[in-house]
Amino acid sequence: MKAIEIRNKYLNFFKAHGHKIIPSAPLIPENDPSVLFTTAGMQPLVPYLLGEKHPEGTRITDYQKCLRTNDIDEVGDNRHLTFFEMLGNWSLGDYFKDEAIAMSYEFLTKELHIDPNKLSVTCFAGDEDAPKDMVAANAWKRAGIPEDRIYFYGKSDNWWIAGEEGPCGPDTEMFLDTGKSACGPDCQPSCGCGKYVEIWNNVFMEYYKSKDGSITKLKQQNVDTGLGLERMTMLLQGKETPFDTELFLPVMEKLKELAKVEYIESRRIVAEHLRASMMIIADGGRPSNIDRGYVLRRLIRRMTRHLNKLQINLDELGGLVDLYVETLKELYPELIDKKEVIKETILEEKDKFVKTLANGEREFEKVSKKAKQENKNTIEAYDIFKLYETYGFPPEITADLAKEQGFEIDLTGFEKLFKEHQEKSRMGSEQKFKGGLAEQNEQTIKYHTATHLLNAALKVVVNKDIHQKGSNITTERMRFDFSCDHKLTDEEKQKVEDLVNEWIKQDLPVTIQTMKKEDAVKSGAECMFIEKYPDDVTVYTIGDVSKEICGGPHVKHTGELGHFKIKKEEASSAGVRRIKAVLE
Ligand code: SER
Repeated sequence: MKAIEIRNKYLNFFKAHGHKIIPSAPLIPENDPSVLFTTAGMQPLVPYLLGEKHPEGTRITDYQKCLRTNDIDEVGDNRHLTFFEMLGNWSLGDYFKDEAIAMSYEFLTKELHIDPNKLSVTCFAGDEDAPKDMVAANAWKRAGIPEDRIYFYGKSDNWWIAGEEGPCGPDTEMFLDTGKSACGPDCQPSCGCGKYVEIWNNVFMEYYKSKDGSITKLKQQNVDTGLGLERMTMLLQGKETPFDTELFLPVMEKLKELAKVEYIESRRIVAEHLRASMMIIADGGRPSNIDRGYVLRRLIRRMTRHLNKLQINLDELGGLVDLYVETLKELYPELIDKKEVIKETILEEKDKFVKTLANGEREFEKVSKKAKQENKNTIEAYDIFKLYETYGFPPEITADLAKEQGFEIDLTGFEKLFKEHQEKSRMGSEQKFKGGLAEQNEQTIKYHTATHLLNAALKVVVNKDIHQKGSNITTERMRFDFSCDHKLTDEEKQKVEDLVNEWIKQDLPVTIQTMKKEDAVKSGAECMFIEKYPDDVTVYTIGDVSKEICGGPHVKHTGELGHFKIKKEEASSAGVRRIKAVLE
């Protein structure tokens, strides 16, 4: 079965069970400064897991583009990916364990035709926070899983939370027996030897973990499930790695054809990083030196190095992008429109890096030769730092090279040197940029302030209960999503535009204050997801027209913005409208 068929089967199965299908949210979270990328299907749904009403109801099913970078260095083996897709079904205070488990079992055995004898499941063993999950275990028994294939584990295996704080709960995980021989008499799903592969996770989110570690019950009992599309595709096709499925195969084969040397690891790294970079760029990400921009930069640089290693001419990159668009366009049609910007971004970034790479590699060879002569097995912090400072050579690439030549590397020492260096060169320019801005420059900062003015103007002109639902800013334009039950009339649009321009003309001061979250809320400051902010927040006030909790940055006076113009007003999703606007 192809990936697209698995996705369609999944969505249709849950649709038939009363779920509404919603499309993937962008890979770059629209309004969540707490994470760089969407790392799980639950992230865009957090407000609804916490009790806000979802416009599509209490049963939702979706496919979500995700990116996880914690294992970036493992990519190249036979299973790790940074970008992947997660299929999910969601109960927002609707069904709970019994129904979720019955549906999972039915989908796996009846729709995907997985042999029930190959399924094992794991449930939460219980501790002071929640009891042993006999409800889940009994539901599995009723579905048809015998007792000896139901395992109980503690929090490290069967409790799910994204990060340190947030909605969470015990989970039950499904494993497929690959038929490989057991690693020993005690071989179990948890042992990770490869015999059992996790295929799906049902999280029963009825708790909230606060920063102080305390766990309390949520208002409602939710179900959050996640089924990794690449892995399922691989298993159903009987393939050993996701790289052998139709998602990667055309590009893997092209790389093989172009390469002058056979390094399977490098081909996988190129194929994986290129796909991830394309998906990030398609969703608006651009390379930079901070946060998510740096992740993208890192992916492109690492890919470039491995193309070099394979002795593939870097001019082939454009063709590889074309091939990937062809390969993935059915799953991700957004790639078609974004093809040119993807190409430009990747090629430009590659060009910037090529010289650094050549110089850095040459210098690294000197360092490693010297280390070998001196019988050392470690690349010292000083050398890593010198490569970085003098040649702009990224430490993670030094680490890659070192690993390939069998060296240890003192990255901790490097970090220390790097910090000392940073302290010295810091010129007091506080660069703390947060708040959903992919890249900050003069123009995006202006747009950021304009979103606050627009938010305020909509309240005055249209309805005081309008709330921001999202925003996205590039150097060219701003996009602003807000709750509203009707299409704005031409008159409303005109009035909103006029009011924003009036405030710009008044050259209102933009001021910033730090305060306790509760005080900020009491003072009437607007915010989107109060749960997500730290205890101390910054509040931006514009004259007496707007007050919002926000990480900034903003302009100092509204007069800096220029002329504000609404370009488009359209529906975004049920009950949410979207305005695209520019500053001229
Ligand atoms: N949130 C869970 C996960 O990411 C299930 O979707 O595994």
